[in-house]
Amino acid sequence: MAFTLCTRQSGVYSFCRNVLPLNFRRHATGGNVFADGDTVLLKYFRRGQDDAEVLVKLRKGGEVHTGRGRTYHNELIGKSPRDHLKSSSGSRIRVMEPTLADYCRLTPRLCTPIYPWSANTIVSALDIHLPEIGDSETPPLEILESGTGHGSLTLHLARAIHGANPPRPRVPSSSTPERNMEDATYNGHSADDVFEHTMSEWKKNRRAVIHTVDNRPNHAKRGKEIVRGFRRGLYADNVEFHVSDVSSWITREQERRESEEPFLSHVVLDMPSAQAHLSTIARALRVDGVLAIFNPSITQIGDCEKRIRLEALPLTQDQVIELVSPRPWDLTCTVPRSIRPREYPSTQTSAVETETVDVPTEELCTEESVTPETENAGDRSAQSVMNAERVEPDSVMICRPKFYTGNTGGGFLGVWRRMHLRTVEEMTKTQG
Ligand SMILES: C[S@@+](CC[C@H](N)C(=O)[O-])C[C@H]1O[C@@H](n2cnc3c(N)ncnc32)[C@H](O)[C@@H]1O
Repeated sequence: MAFTLCTRQSGVYSFCRNVLPLNFRRHATGGNVFADGDTVLLKYFRRGQDDAEVLVKLRKGGEVHTGRGRTYHNELIGKSPRDHLKSSSGSRIRVMEPTLADYCRLTPRLCTPIYPWSANTIVSALDIHLPEIGDSETPPLEILESGTGHGSLTLHLARAIHGANPPRPRVPSSSTPERNMEDATYNGHSADDVFEHTMSEWKKNRRAVIHTVDNRPNHAKRGKEIVRGFRRGLYADNVEFHVSDVSSWITREQERRESEEPFLSHVVLDMPSAQAHLSTIARALRVDGVLAIFNPSITQIGDCEKRIRLEALPLTQDQVIELVSPRPWDLTCTVPRSIRPREYPSTQTSAVETETVDVPTEELCTEESVTPETENAGDRSAQSVMNAERVEPDSVMICRPKFYTGNTGGGFLGVWRRMHLRTVEEMTKTQG
């Protein structure tokens, strides 16, 4: 199929927006099947072993090697979310579409990301409200993040603003599979030219955008790859990536806009020496905009508050909170061993398996009705459950915090709001 350059003037812009087919699936949710290029989460279950999980980007002919055997990508391609298969060593594997949290936790990293629970709290602290579609009075929401790092917080922010933007144009690029070379040009314009042009037109109509800045090119590049890799770039076009020091970027941006008027709705910092950038940020933040600073140490938040006071910056403290990860719990329904008849058909080994209603009983790990953790650790609460009196029906609940070894991160969040300059002047006069 041939296509033409999409401009408002050419009159085919709306044709491109509405009619051109998008020949690739974006991700598997909604009954689709996994394809070459998708990222999938493999969950391993094996008799007497904990579950393990691996994130894999599918490519034809590829293989996954783990301590639980080998799996071929070709077997995964064509599967739907929650389908099962077995590894070469017989481990049962469930193939899943990774959640945003899975993806941020398990992608290979160059620096420490903000972990999903903290990222959600930070997004909530910004109190983002999206402009309504069609509202041309309100300026677009522009949120600055520094540094990009792993791209974890970037993805959470990009998801939060996604609803503000019009649907992405359905335009094929040369990387779109199933497109013939002879189809890839029209009137001398390559498919990539058409794609770039249409995307830049679309970007002008965005109602919300995340500007993410990192002064280390390798971190910026990895962050961009991470954002683009999630569900085939579902949220990527809500983000502009910049390689720069954060203060320099703001100054350049104000020059480019030929205005010293504040243009940022909110700012989020996760970087060392955040206090060094506060005066530049305060100049660019709109009145009542939120400045959220994440730091591993409370004294770093203190350094920011001190700098705000020393320089009489127009920022007022809203809250300072410690981000503590929620503790996962094991909630397992089981029959106490003390009362279990020999022939009792035990059906579960872990909380994860408990929700596996779609798996035939004979496929479940059936050796024990308590988790391997319980067996190994001799956990006292589980022991008391095993010694419990018979109840009707026979099953009881094991409720205990999980032994969670994954790094869940922690830290402190300082939240300030931009004041009117006159408020600061009045305050300074009163104090003086
Ligand atoms: C801890 S990482 C950020 C992780 C990120 N929030 C995430 O969720 O994945 C800190 C980043 O700040 C960047 N950085 C440090 N100083 C900076 C500066 N002056 N301007 C911009 N980025 C900076 C570092 O290169 C690093 O990538």
